Parts: sequence; C-alpha cells; structure tokens
Amino acid sequence: MNRHPHLFSPARVGPLSLPNRFVMAPMTRGRATADNVPTPRMATYYAQRADAGLLVTEATAIAATGRGWLNAPGIWNDAQVAAWRPVTSAVHARRGRIFLQLWHMGRTSHPDFLGGELPVGPSAIAAKGETHTAKGKQPYVTPRALTTVEIARIVGEYAAAATRARAAGFDGVEIHGANGYLIDQFLRDCSNQRTDAYGGSPGKRARFLLEVTEAVAGAWSADRVGVRLSPTGAYNDMRDSDPVATFGHAARALDRLGLAYLHVSEALPGSMFHVPLPPVLPTLRKAFRGPLIANGGYDAAKADAAIAAGEVDLIAFGVPFLANPDLVVRVRKGAAMNPPDFGTLYTPGDQGYSDYPTLR
Ligand SMILES: Cc1cc2nc3c(=O)[nH]c(=O)nc-3n(C[C@H](O)[C@H](O)[C@H](O)COP(=O)(O)O)c2cc1C
Repeated sequence: MNRHPHLFSPARVGPLSLPNRFVMAPMTRGRATADNVPTPRMATYYAQRADAGLLVTEATAIAATGRGWLNAPGIWNDAQVAAWRPVTSAVHARRGRIFLQLWHMGRTSHPDFLGGELPVGPSAIAAKGETHTAKGKQPYVTPRALTTVEIARIVGEYAAAATRARAAGFDGVEIHGANGYLIDQFLRDCSNQRTDAYGGSPGKRARFLLEVTEAVAGAWSADRVGVRLSPTGAYNDMRDSDPVATFGHAARALDRLGLAYLHVSEALPGSMFHVPLPPVLPTLRKAFRGPLIANGGYDAAKADAAIAAGEVDLIAFGVPFLANPDLVVRVRKGAAMNPPDFGTLYTPGDQGYSDYPTLR
C-alpha cells in the first residue's frame, strides 16, 4: 500500500513529465576541483539520486567573479561544460531529470576568491559573519556597489551560463534567488539601499531578478527556467522589513513569464532551518500560478499532506536526499532512513557523499 499517494503522483514541470513529486534540493557539497570543475564522483552522486522527479544541482557559479566557495563548481568555461556532461548523461541513463542551479555570490564572496578584488553587491553593506577561504575563516568584507553598466554585464553572464548549461545536457536551470546571494541581496532591504532603478520599492528591488530571469528565459526557454526564493530565510545575515510585500511582488512579476516553476525554501517549524516569522508561502501560492515547489523540514507525511491540501505541487528534500540516495524507494517501502553525517558535508572524497548505503 502506498501511504503517500500524492507525493507519488506524476507531475509536469515545463515540458518534462515527472514520475513523482520528489525534488532533490540544491546542496553545495564541495566536491569539484580547486578551479571549480566538476569531478567524476559528482556524476555518481547525482545518478544515485535519479529516482527523484527532479534533481536540482548544487549552486554553480555563473562567472569567476561570482564565485566564493571552496571546491564548488562553475559553468563559465568550456572545461566546466565538458565536465558537467558526464553528470547529466549519468542522470539521464537512469531516466532522471536535472536542473543546474545558477549562482552569483555577490557580497558573500571574498577577495581571496577574486584575485584580490572586492566582491560586489547592490550596496556597500557587509554581511555580518565569516566565510571559509583557503586561508581559513575570515570576516565578510564590505562589497563594492555595482554600477548599472556592471549589472547589465552580470545579467548577460546569467544568460551565457544558461546557454552553457543547455550545452552540458541539463534539462533546465534554476536561478538561485535565495539564501542571501546576489539576487536575494537585491531583493531585500537589509542589503539593498540603492536609490536608482534597482532599489527602493519592492518593484525596484525585484528588477534585477526580473532582468536575470527574462535574459535566462531568452537564452533558452521560459519553461526550462525555475526560480528559487527564501522569503524568510536568515542565512547570510538576511532579513527584510516586509517579506510579504517584497516577495509577493516578485512572485506576481515572475508569474507573467511562464516559468517551469517557483521554488520556495521556507522551513517548517521544528526544522533546523526554521525562522520564527509568519510564512510567506501562502501569499506566493496565490501570486504564482505555475508549479510551486516547497522546501524546508519536510518528511514524506508532511509533504504528502501539503500536496493533498493544494498548498504546493512538489516538495524538495535536502538533507533526506543527501543521506539517502534511494530516498524515493525508502519512502515507498516505509523503510528506515540513514542518518546524515554533518561532518562530511563539504569534505573532499566519497565518504559521506557517494557512499551512503541503499537498501539493497
Ligand atoms: C549541505 C547543504 C548545502 C546546501 N547548499 C545549497 C545550495 O547550494 N543552494 C541552495 O539553494 N540551497 C542550499 N542548501 C539549502 C537546501 O537546499 C535546503 O533548503 C535545506 O537543506 C532545507 O531543506 P531540508 O530540510 O529538506 O534539508 C544547502 C543545504 C545543505 C544542508
């Protein structure tokens, strides 16, 4: 007996038919090379999880100037495209579907990743906290505020990255607008205090997201493009004075583009990522009429109930997928789950990465 019929019902995302409503959430794992080229073990890792209706890769830098995480992959040069191909082929060989998450870190990068240059952001406001560099933990620096000419160049870099993702065999791309990275820095008023066309009202703060999304859709096709947002997320020192207004506006504007999906990361109470703020997800459900993915602290029962209630269409699982390559099989069988090993989240090698046991 299938105890989670809604989670196991088929769905459509853009032109893709998904056999179930499990999405693997994007997760940075630091298994690429020091110069941000994907490695063969990444093909093994993603293929192991290809039972998911949809896989979303770890965040992947669109440009060398947007990177800032040790051993995270990129998609700005030919070597990276060539090294992503075995990943997408391995997933497709197991009849899976995979989107690439497009990432620019903005103010959360560090000069050590940028040839000594300052990272950039909407405004010259530093995040509180520290970042990991090759020299160990260092405080975030105050970024340089982008000029409008530079903003236009970065929009073009997103589009070029989408073209490269397509060439690498991905089924689509997810624009990383969450978790305090560049797009989120523009969206929220803690980090965006611009007085030009890119700052001020929710509409102006959403302008960069909209320009990026339209450019990426233009480079490929809107129904191959998803967007991820984290309206109440506090990671990377983020907050907003009115998340419902900020993200409600963004979702209404995205709704008009005919995207593959909107992916909202907003952790449930009781989960380790939960922030005690009123949820914005119900507002976004009304604002965005396409497929909606929710994420954050879901287990199969909560996921099935949320889909059954019509609150969302699909659920992304992060840590459960990290520790259980055969998550979909385990849920179907009602089997026990592997516990995650938090000590190996970002360490090199197969341990705690591609060596989690399956049931068989
Ligand atoms: C190790 C790790 C890496 C993550 N990296 C990313 C990332 O690259 N991009 C992103 O949007 N979210 C990232 N996240 C957040 C997850 O996608 C997800 O939102 C979070 O784990 C909550 O979902 P869960 O409760 O199902 O794990 C990461 C989370 C973890 C645990």
